[in-house]
Amino acid sequence: MAELRHFLDLSDAGGDAIAAMLADAIDRKAARATWPKGQTDADQPLAGHVLGMVFEKNSTRTRVSFDIAMRQLGGSTLTLDSSSSQLGRGETIADTARVLSRMVDVIMLRTDDHAKIEEMARHATVPVINGLTDRSHPCQIVADLLTVVERGKTLPGLEVAWFGDGNNVLHSILEAAALMKFNVRVATPAGYEPEMEFVELARAAGSSVTLTQDAAEAADGADVVVTDTWVSMGQEHTHNKLAAMAPYQVNDALMARAKEGSVFLHCLPAHVGEEVTESVFESDQSVVFEEAENRIHAQKSVLLWCFGKL
Ligand code: CP
Ligand code: NVA
Repeated sequence: MAELRHFLDLSDAGGDAIAAMLADAIDRKAARATWPKGQTDADQPLAGHVLGMVFEKNSTRTRVSFDIAMRQLGGSTLTLDSSSSQLGRGETIADTARVLSRMVDVIMLRTDDHAKIEEMARHATVPVINGLTDRSHPCQIVADLLTVVERGKTLPGLEVAWFGDGNNVLHSILEAAALMKFNVRVATPAGYEPEMEFVELARAAGSSVTLTQDAAEAADGADVVVTDTWVSMGQEHTHNKLAAMAPYQVNDALMARAKEGSVFLHCLPAHVGEEVTESVFESDQSVVFEEAENRIHAQKSVLLWCFGKL
């Protein structure tokens, strides 16, 4: 039996596959530009296939984009959440994986502890996709890469600047830097740096990763400016954290230091007035809603890769 293609992190696919995903997403998006969103792609490559989505945390974009992605590929979806499934009453991930594998063709899980998705993948006999864990958010970053490539940027050598909390989204950006050969400047308060494992991965692959507490230094000459919520799902809102994050707000002064033609990314949901000002969020440089739409196009490619169709 061919080895299962799980997509727990970007490295599971590798740089060549991610490049193929981006190319396919661009082609499929262009081919259906004027069609209704529920119409299937002409080739319906996943006809007859079912995606089972399991949510242990809230979601708008991931949930809707995977649903529409699967429909456009000719397949269908079903959604479980922990409060209304037996997972919420203590049924194990291992048993859930074995049951779902007999009922659906691919599983997407959004959960807290990354070990849970690894457990799901160990026991599933169908591909498992990471729809966000506390450690990483790889599907988001495929959409982010698609968004910057669509804006005419070339990934190798790109200067990406991150501001705020060193979180799951940043971890996947660092992993993408290693695979697609771009550089990352990370500006966080002391104590909120990303896990060094991701920094070292990117550096070992030849990417430059700067860790600084100086937001201006990170912004100087950046091609892409990125931030995210200061408090991720499952984390505590503390006055101390919000106060520490304040100097890392993406505002007009920070954007003015970035390169002309730079773009602003945010995975959303945003807390306008906290990690980003309204003026930047609503500016022409902000591509956050294209980025959100691209979750559909990017995930179609992720799904096709999982089925060995890319
Ligand atoms: N960006 C993102 O994953 O959004 P949701 O939490 O709404 O899925
Ligand atoms: N870092 C955020 C991303 C939400 C899409 C979180 O984990 O809550």
